Amino acid sequence: MRYLSIRNRVYPKNLNPNGYAFGGFIMAEMDKAASIMVEEVMHGKAVTVFVDNLHFQHPVRNGDIISIYAEVTKIGKTSITLHISFETRCVISRDEYSVCDALFVFVAINDQNKPIPIRPLLRDNIPDYIQALVSK
Ligand SMILES: CC(C)(COP(=O)(O)OP(=O)(O)OC[C@H]1O[C@@H](n2cnc3c(N)ncnc32)[C@H](O)[C@@H]1OP(=O)(O)O)[C@@H](O)C(=O)NCCC(=O)NCCS
Repeated sequence: MRYLSIRNRVYPKNLNPNGYAFGGFIMAEMDKAASIMVEEVMHGKAVTVFVDNLHFQHPVRNGDIISIYAEVTKIGKTSITLHISFETRCVISRDEYSVCDALFVFVAINDQNKPIPIRPLLRDNIPDYIQALVSK
């Protein structure tokens, strides 16, 4: 079950010299969206350890409204995996496009930046679909 994690508008500071949103902006927004979802699911600190292949399928223009959705797909021993989808709505046509999607893996860490078990850190009110992943 995916949740809207970030909704935002593209501004000129987010553009590359060709006039489209630059990849670093898109990747940073996806990482932020993932981290927001991770905080919804667990207490404490977590860091990004892995992002799978990113394929930019559609350009994002100045003024577009971006929506980034997050879905937890796995709870590991110390890690949590999320599927992140980046979509855009063209400011001119109002058509909606899928821009890219990727898996993000975060790892729960202690104050010494060492991985720690994630299950004791899960919040009490996590959605049922995530709870079901915990018992797998
Ligand atoms: C995150 C970090 C603490 C993990 O340390 P580590 O010694 O590599 O940890 P481990 O090998 O024990 O792996 C920890 C978990 O990460 C997962 N993991 C590690 N590397 C991975 C990779 N390349 N792909 C997928 N998962 C990976 C492991 O599967 C494991 O998950 P599990 O416990 O649920 O099975 C360390 O790599 C680190 O500090 N990296 C830098 C993080 C960072 O700065 N991120 C950017 C800013 S947020």
